[in-house]
Parts: sequence; C-alpha cells; structure tokens
Amino acid sequence: MQYTTLGDTGMTVSKICLGCMSFGDPAWRDWVLGEEEGKELVERALELGVTFFDTANMYSNGESERVLGEALEGHRDEAVVATKGYFRMDESNPNSGGLSRKAIETQLQASLDRLGMETVDLYQIHRWDDETPIRETMAALDDAIRRGQARYVGASSMWTHQFAEALHTSERRGLDRFVTMQNHYNLVYREEEREMLPYCESRGVGVMPWSPLARGYLTRPDDEIDATLRGETEEHMYRHPYREGGGQEINARVAELADEKGVKMAQIALAWLFHKEWVDTPIVGTTSVEHLEDAVEALDIDLSSSDVDWLEEPYEPVRVSGHD
Ligand SMILES: NC(=O)c1ccc[n+]([C@@H]2O[C@H](COP(=O)([O-])OP(=O)(O)OC[C@H]3O[C@@H](n4cnc5c(N)ncnc54)[C@H](OP(=O)(O)O)[C@@H]3O)[C@@H](O)[C@H]2O)c1
Repeated sequence: MQYTTLGDTGMTVSKICLGCMSFGDPAWRDWVLGEEEGKELVERALELGVTFFDTANMYSNGESERVLGEALEGHRDEAVVATKGYFRMDESNPNSGGLSRKAIETQLQASLDRLGMETVDLYQIHRWDDETPIRETMAALDDAIRRGQARYVGASSMWTHQFAEALHTSERRGLDRFVTMQNHYNLVYREEEREMLPYCESRGVGVMPWSPLARGYLTRPDDEIDATLRGETEEHMYRHPYREGGGQEINARVAELADEKGVKMAQIALAWLFHKEWVDTPIVGTTSVEHLEDAVEALDIDLSSSDVDWLEEPYEPVRVSGHD
C-alpha cells in the first residue's frame, strides 16, 4: 500500500479509500452486500493496508455505518473513518436533513452512535444546502470539532464558487475550514478540471473522487455495461453522461491499453487517477475482494505521459453531473 497525507492536514491515509456505499443492507439497493460480506471486505482491506473508509448516514439508511463500525472493532486507531450528512433520513422530519445547526448536531450524533465511535476522523457535508446560511453550517461543524466529535470537516459535490464561499467564511470567522473535497471525477467525467480541482490544489484541499470507475462503466467494454447486477439495476450509471462526449471511445481505449499491458480495465482507469497530482485518494466502490485487490495492484501500474494523453484525447465537455 502507498500512503499520503490528506490535503494539507498531517493525517495519513492510504492512497485507496474503500467506499462503503456497497455494503449495509441489500434491501436498500439490490447490489449492496449484507453484513457478513461487508465485514469480510473491510477485513481484507485492512490486511491489504487500506486504512481509509468512506461512508454516509444515508447508505443503506445507516446500515453501512453500523456494519463499518463493527468491522473496525479493534482497529479504530489505525483506521481513518469518514462519513457524511445532508440527505434527509426521515421523510416526515425536515430537520433530519440539510445543514442547519440542528440537523448537523443530531445527524452527526446519530452517525457516531451507529459507528459506535466517539469521534469520526472526517465529517463531510454530502451536498450544499441552499436553505441554510453557510456561516451557520461552518459554525456548527467547527463546534463539532471542539466537542471532539470530528477531527476534520470536508465537503462533497457542489459548485466551486460555493466551496470558495465556505472556505472564506471559515477563514474570516476563525473557524476550522473544509480540508477535503469529495467530488465526481473519472476518465469519462472530467468537468471538475475546469474550476474545482485547480481551486483545491491552490488551497491545499485534499481531493477524494467518488465513482472513480464511473460506477463500473470503465471496468468493462461499453456493450457489456449491463452484464452485472449493478449495471443492470442501477440507473445512476445511465443518468451520468459517461457515454456522451467521447465516453464510448475512451471506454474502448481503456480496454485496448489494458489488453496491451495485460491488466484489467478497472486498473487502467484507477492508474490514470493515481497519476493525477491533484488527487489524494480515489474512493473505490466494490462488492468483491478480488476487485479490491485489483485496485491495490493498480498502484504499481506505470502510465507514460503519452498513455495518459491518448486516454484523455477523445474527451469532450459534457453536462455537469453529480450536483445541481
Ligand atoms: N459524495 C457522493 O455524492 C458520492 C456519490 C457516489 C459514490 N460516493 C462514494 O464513492 C464510492 C465509490 O462509488 P461507486 O461505487 O459509485 O464507484 P466506482 O468505484 O466508480 O464503481 C463501482 C463499480 O465498479 C465495479 N468494479 C470495481 N472494481 C472493479 C474491478 N476491478 N473489476 C470489475 N469491476 C469493478 C464494481 O463492481 P463490483 O462490486 O463487482 O466490484 C461496481 O459496480 C462509494 O462507495 C461512496 O463511498 C460518493
């Protein structure tokens, strides 16, 4: 395993973060692993040196946090645990979502209870909340750090001007600021290169992309995308513009380069991200120990600059996807 410090913090994380949306309760999504298999995945991740785990209160309605917390028993100090809040957890209660002080205090406490932890290493806002002034959100997050409930705070997909406003608000008011950005970034979705990634780089913000394999689109040829249960049943892969703007040609080039190097398509797609200096650690989603092992092996794949250029060349701008 390779390690890096997260953004400009001193906290070390593995260069692969295990995404925990894939386990919890299969009743939430057909392709989600149940408790025992989820725990096996976490156990194998720890053996491989993966120390960074990303979950959210909404994944399997809290079950992902609960399973992760149990799986990490006895390993709490070596693990770096990140969770998120924002989406409404109880449809009948508007204060169970959003980023008001009330929502943050209750949702963070509920996440800690499910995780069975007193402190989470990174607490992230899952989206921007138009209804709450950012000064209220940043003050509530800073208070959570003072109370010892979170060590750092981070953000996820939003417009760069919103993220800049959040950072400025914290700095003006002497509050702890977001140290990470969890955004949508992969070979077939590169709109973040326009503003967000250069901004993060200039501000020392750690970048941890979600759906680094385009939800599976970059792991098999275009005409096989519905060959897995997730490919067959998850509408998100089809809602994102992965097959637009040169995406199908990129998929073909990933397959060709994988063939040439004798590795898997998923490994080429991850290796491309590992070669991007502004990325700290992609959040890999998998339901398979073998696929997790593939990700770890991908750290050793060397791509030349002409390989990178060739993979990137067909890309054309596509519509923004991942936030409103
Ligand atoms: N902040 C946000 O809004 C947000 C949004 C989405 C996701 N996330 C985070 O990002 C994580 C990853 O997201 P994701 O699951 O959508 O993304 P992903 O990593 O891009 O894609 C996962 C898909 O790729 C397949 N795959 C992985 N490795 C493979 C391999 N070696 N060979 C073949 N197929 C492979 C998986 O299938 P198998 O299961 O068969 O391995 C799964 O279908 C989530 O767990 C979550 O923590 C955050």
